[in-house]
Amino acid sequence: MTKPHAEPPSKTVIITGGAGGGIGGGVSAVMAEAGWNIVIVDIDLEAGRGLSEQLARQGLSAAFFGADITLPGCAEQAVSFANSQFGGVDALVNNAGIGLVKDIAEVSDEDYRRVFSVNIDAAYRFSRAVVRAMPASGGAIVNISSVHALATCPGYTVYAATKGAIDAFTRALAVDCGPRRIRVNCIHPGLVPSPQNRDLIGRFADDVDAWLNTYTLKKQLLANLPEARQVGELVRFFLGGAASAITGQSIAIDGGTSVMLYERGS
Ligand SMILES: NC(=O)c1ccc[n+]([C@@H]2O[C@H](COP(=O)([O-])OP(=O)(O)OC[C@H]3O[C@@H](n4cnc5c(N)ncnc54)[C@H](O)[C@@H]3O)[C@@H](O)[C@H]2O)c1
Repeated sequence: MTKPHAEPPSKTVIITGGAGGGIGGGVSAVMAEAGWNIVIVDIDLEAGRGLSEQLARQGLSAAFFGADITLPGCAEQAVSFANSQFGGVDALVNNAGIGLVKDIAEVSDEDYRRVFSVNIDAAYRFSRAVVRAMPASGGAIVNISSVHALATCPGYTVYAATKGAIDAFTRALAVDCGPRRIRVNCIHPGLVPSPQNRDLIGRFADDVDAWLNTYTLKKQLLANLPEARQVGELVRFFLGGAASAITGQSIAIDGGTSVMLYERGS
């Protein structure tokens, strides 16, 4: 851990799942490059150490807290860690999330609980811990939901339910926290070609790149898939001063997927 970007005001953000090769890593890189102190909280110790060391080598301010965010007490420990490393916490990105593609008839109680515990329970606990710790001057939270909160496909019942819950949670938390000067906003990414997603697609498609190409042509208005760093730039906007009058809002970054009634070409 190094702290070369200590120009005032040096602010600190906790990013759950911030070591991921997809959106989490994109958010971590963008926020660190923007001069924030970042605290990456991730269960993947190798990726977390690797990314925080890589950012430190670039002269950026990053620390890694290796933990399973579903464990009770983890959020409070992460906040204490942020306090010990950087003297406080000003922002939170609830990014960590896991998927599930299974017909409802096949979903076990364990499947259901696992997805809810990462995607919702942890977001709730981290938000509560950070709200308790934020300075009187306020702070900001960004929740990473999904286009599956808006419309979905077969097999996504549980995942879509968690993402819809994140959307409603965002609005409710914004209402609760506005008087504390804490803003809460939400992002609905479309299909970002993260390693997690490529693995998922590889389970039903032989050629992942060809599948992604067809998806882009049929399911998006724009010819480019959203990139992890572009989600990171939206996070940066929501956490920064330019968004100081915005709270309780959700925005999709999906190449137009969520506004289409029909596939392109049909
Ligand atoms: N990738 C997409 O196309 C896409 C689209 C819409 C929404 N999302 C949402 O964006 C978020 C990031 O998804 P991504 O696919 O880009 O993944 P990502 O690259 O951000 O990786 C997720 C990270 O979360 C970590 N993690 C998972 N369970 C954890 C746990 N119990 N404790 C601590 N860390 C844990 C993983 O180790 C991984 O590093 C998720 O909430 C996902 O639902 C992703």
